[in-house]
Amino acid sequence: MDFRRIMPITKFWAYLLITSQFALVLSAVLPDGNSHPKIAPREEQGVTQNGDLKAFSMQCPGYAFPQVICISRCGSLIHGDFERKVRDVVGDSDTYESTSAPSEPTFQDISYADFLVWDTSVGFEILGPQPSVEFIFAVDNASHVGPVYAPTTNELYFSRLSLGFLPQLVIDLNQNPPTLSERVANPPIYAGTGGRFYKGLIYFSTIGGNSSLEGHSFRPGVYTLDPRTGKSNVIVNNYYGYYFNGVDDLEIDDHGQIWFTDNNYGRTSHVNTHAPQMGVGTYRFNTSSGLVSLVEDSLLEPNGIIFSPDFQTLYLSDTGAGSVVIDDRVVPAPPLAYNSTGARTTYAYDVSNSRKRLLNKRVLYRAIEYVADGIGISREGYLVAGTGHGVDILSADGEPLVRVQTNFTVLNTAWAGKESDELWAFGKGGIARIRLALKGPKPE
Ligand SMILES: *[C@@H]1O[C@H](CO)[C@@H](O)[C@H](O)[C@H]1NC(C)=O
Ligand SMILES: *[C@@H]1O[C@H](CO)[C@@H](O)[C@H](O)[C@H]1NC(C)=O
Ligand SMILES: *[C@@H]1O[C@H](CO)[C@@H](O)[C@H](O)[C@H]1NC(C)=O
Ligand SMILES: *[C@@H]1O[C@H](CO)[C@@H](O)[C@H](O)[C@H]1NC(C)=O
Ligand SMILES: *[C@@H]1O[C@H](CO)[C@@H](O)[C@H](O)[C@H]1NC(C)=O
Repeated sequence: MDFRRIMPITKFWAYLLITSQFALVLSAVLPDGNSHPKIAPREEQGVTQNGDLKAFSMQCPGYAFPQVICISRCGSLIHGDFERKVRDVVGDSDTYESTSAPSEPTFQDISYADFLVWDTSVGFEILGPQPSVEFIFAVDNASHVGPVYAPTTNELYFSRLSLGFLPQLVIDLNQNPPTLSERVANPPIYAGTGGRFYKGLIYFSTIGGNSSLEGHSFRPGVYTLDPRTGKSNVIVNNYYGYYFNGVDDLEIDDHGQIWFTDNNYGRTSHVNTHAPQMGVGTYRFNTSSGLVSLVEDSLLEPNGIIFSPDFQTLYLSDTGAGSVVIDDRVVPAPPLAYNSTGARTTYAYDVSNSRKRLLNKRVLYRAIEYVADGIGISREGYLVAGTGHGVDILSADGEPLVRVQTNFTVLNTAWAGKESDELWAFGKGGIARIRLALKGPKPE
């Protein structure tokens, strides 16, 4: 697949023409009269009178085909027999495109698409005129996680989960094309699985635990790193003396409190050999008082965590479909097992005005592929979930609107660039840069 595609401009004009709300924009940008593009009749575009698409999947009006494909009625009806064969493989589960649908000849086009549009009413606003997916770096099949953009240095940090591996990986966006290198913090930070930038520092959540690794002792917790100096600090590493299991991901609220998920994945990735001392859970950490307070304990494996742009809602993903053997007599721990019937749901909660409690837990969405490992948010309030071979863009109510397809397993994403207009996807086997018409939240 060729990942660098720029849509021919004439297709964009056609898109503007048939999208009535853009009529004004069109008259503003087209040069006087003479070169109006010819628009294919709606029937030719595969759109019926009532706005439905005629086939299962087809060209989206105004976009290159098959890079962008519109799916009729959210794909809810497949004619004839069909089967999506479940593939219980960690990090490489079955994909939507792997569904066999012999009576729907247009279904197979889906496997060539970079973008699937489930909802044509907002999908084109999300894509913008020139959506693209670029495969930037090939990486090995280890989990590449915890991506975080540092605006102070214009670099993207992330981690590779591997026993004894201490450097952070750093993408330098000051270079064109961007370069990738390894850098060790002072002192080192081990197995950072989540990252946020806040007031000049990167905050990493870590799942690494080791008493003697290159002369250092590591416990899962939250660490800070100044990307300008490389200096690091640990700011929370225990719950009244208990080790955390693995502080997988974190998020920072509008009061500066750190909310983090604690789960069992340190054991299966062998970066933490300690037997669990507590159940999993989600905590809030008041950085002023030092208080660590459990706020949620109902998920099997709490993992991705993100606030809505107004901090009134917290989203948490449960990735319990990836399950862990909890038995300290079994060393090393067996590798992660994946079962598609397990927990793959993302939930939403109201955040109390005091910013102390979570209320009103509700189901948001079940991952279309694999699990929603990392979840992000756009400035506009769309959820961005790294799920299997791609990224789902969801409404704040958890409705899939657009899917970005990749040829590697995406575990999480980060917004990057001076305008926060690049969405980078990280996972097993690859790193990609996605361009949409969305932006990341304004960094603090
Ligand atoms: C990485 O994973 C993919 C998908 O499971 C597989 O096809 C490939 O052979 C793996 N590569 C290595 C080096 O293990
Ligand atoms: C700590 O890391 C070292 C180096 O990778 C490894 O050999 C050792 O087994 C680890 N110790 C524990 C207790 O996991
Ligand atoms: C955090 O701690 C500070 C200092 O004790 C306190 O003033 C503040 O109210 C606390 N915030 C929350 C949300 O509990
Ligand atoms: C997945 O879970 C289902 C239901 O619990 C079970 O029947 C099935 O055997 C499991 N599959 C694997 C591969 O463990
Ligand atoms: C994904 O596509 C890129 C770019 O074409 C290619 O270099 C890479 O090998 C592909 N990865 C896999 C796992 O197919």
